[in-house]
Amino acid sequence: MSSTSANGRLNEWVDHWADIFAPADIHWCDGTEDEYDHLCGKLIATGSFERLNDEIRPNSYLCLSDPADVARVEDRTFIACENEIDAGPTNHWREPSELKSEMLDLYRGAMTGRTMYVVPFSMGPLGSPIAHIGVQLTDSPYVAVSMRIMTRMGQGALDALGASGGFVPCLHSVGYPLVDAGGNRRDDVPWPCDAENKYISHFPESREIWSYGSGYGGNALLGKKCFALRIASTMARDEGWMAEHMLILGVTPPDGEKKYIAAAFPSACGKTNMAMLIPTLPGWTVETIGDDIAWMKFGDDGQLYAINPEAGFFGVAPGTSDETNANAMETLWGNSIFTNVAKTPEGDIWWEEMTDEAPPRLTDWQGETWTPESDSPAAHPNARFTTPASQCPSIAPEWEDPKGVPISAILFGGRRATNVPLVTEARDWEHGVFLGSIMSSEKTAAAAGKIGQVRFDPFAMLPFMGYNVGDYINHWLEVGKSADASKLPKLFWVNWFRKDENGQFMWPGFGDNSRVLKWVMQRIDGEAAAVDTAIGNVPTLDAIDRSGLDLDDATMEKILDVDDAAWTEELALIEAHFAYIGERLPSQMRNQLGDLESRLGV
Ligand code: OXD
Ligand code: MN
Repeated sequence: MSSTSANGRLNEWVDHWADIFAPADIHWCDGTEDEYDHLCGKLIATGSFERLNDEIRPNSYLCLSDPADVARVEDRTFIACENEIDAGPTNHWREPSELKSEMLDLYRGAMTGRTMYVVPFSMGPLGSPIAHIGVQLTDSPYVAVSMRIMTRMGQGALDALGASGGFVPCLHSVGYPLVDAGGNRRDDVPWPCDAENKYISHFPESREIWSYGSGYGGNALLGKKCFALRIASTMARDEGWMAEHMLILGVTPPDGEKKYIAAAFPSACGKTNMAMLIPTLPGWTVETIGDDIAWMKFGDDGQLYAINPEAGFFGVAPGTSDETNANAMETLWGNSIFTNVAKTPEGDIWWEEMTDEAPPRLTDWQGETWTPESDSPAAHPNARFTTPASQCPSIAPEWEDPKGVPISAILFGGRRATNVPLVTEARDWEHGVFLGSIMSSEKTAAAAGKIGQVRFDPFAMLPFMGYNVGDYINHWLEVGKSADASKLPKLFWVNWFRKDENGQFMWPGFGDNSRVLKWVMQRIDGEAAAVDTAIGNVPTLDAIDRSGLDLDDATMEKILDVDDAAWTEELALIEAHFAYIGERLPSQMRNQLGDLESRLGV
């Protein structure tokens, strides 16, 4: 591919950073299959990739990271804006020029001896009015090939950028130049990183991303959490749209009309499973649009339309199986990259819970021999698959529609052993925003009726908001105010994880969550019965379709129960959470809390 683009600003930016990073050469990624194969070959040569058995897992690779670089590093994630208050209490704030000068010291010469890849990408279908272009400079070929799966990467993105288009500039170095501190050449390692010195920095005011030291996932694939959530959430606030940590799915009832639902759940709470669920209700169909991020904008018709800005799934591997997510397992048939999973003697992949019984002998994620008697897991708990969304059997035919899909409902969910019923419908948009703002998960399983250690995760965006959480909640309120209320999605709260006195999950979850989707669909149409409780509208005992499910009335009652006494206890936690959000918490949220208190008779 050419060594420059038609975009003068992009060329200047690339030249400027090439001077600082000092790579041995520069490669502009065109996104072709040839290029992908060539880069994977290079990764095999450095020992970073191993090709899996083509007869079992065609065109796929295993990659094992440095054990010190295995996950997103929230404590090294920074929001650098002029005023600390604009980053808010949930973010690590840094003064922008100070942070830049600190990182510049690390960036100078960071790519010595390496190739600098120029990775143009589109978040969202090429040419969609909701999509945006980014360009990432990186010295990691692993990142370049992963970006080809996760985004629309290469010449198409450059064409969409054109001569004068703007882009979000994303800088990334693994921080392992091929010279040592004394200036002597050193060999490469399979997973280069600077584990002691990671920085995942965001400059929302200038819409820039600077990442250093890590090659893993959201730290390094900068289109995902850094751009599509942290930077995009600030763009969305300024421009009147929404960038959210949500899956998007389409649901079609038997002989009914397809509707689209988005759902926000914290990391590792089953978004990928829900996005691909296989309904247990006969005649119902669920189709996947996205499993992690939704960008939503109002159309000319006043409806809120959503796109999935990504092109692939970067899913947590352990726990994924034919039972929990058969569609994901089929998606992974080939053309995939597996990071930190275990390898079978046949040259295929394995992770915990993939099969009922573990294979007798494996190579674990650290390259060591593993047997079922081993003390540590074979795959790292945050092992990932990187796989094209187009391979998913449940992908909706319209998943790349540039105008997006109209959203009829938004679900907020967490992992709560207690208090939160299976599903609750918000009374209106403002009440739904209140429910989203107090979303939470329990870190430990708590005894029924008692409140465990609750971590609040407003809108499942706690680690992903690019600005002050109070302003973020206010943006949700503004979106509601600016819209035609009759066209706004209905808001719901869901909880698949309620437990009984013995610590057992009461709701079967997975494909049976289609029963909750049915109630949600009926409520959108003004049907299905609900009771008005202190926290919102909850299904009556028989309103959730239990046909073919062995779940007695007594258990269902517990799953749907709103215990006023337990909620009165929870009020103190919500008070503390709101106090933590602080001065920018919109007054409407305090009013909503006051309303909840009076409904509880407090
Ligand atoms: C993810 C996350 O990787 O939420 O999707 O951490
Ligand atoms: Mn996520």
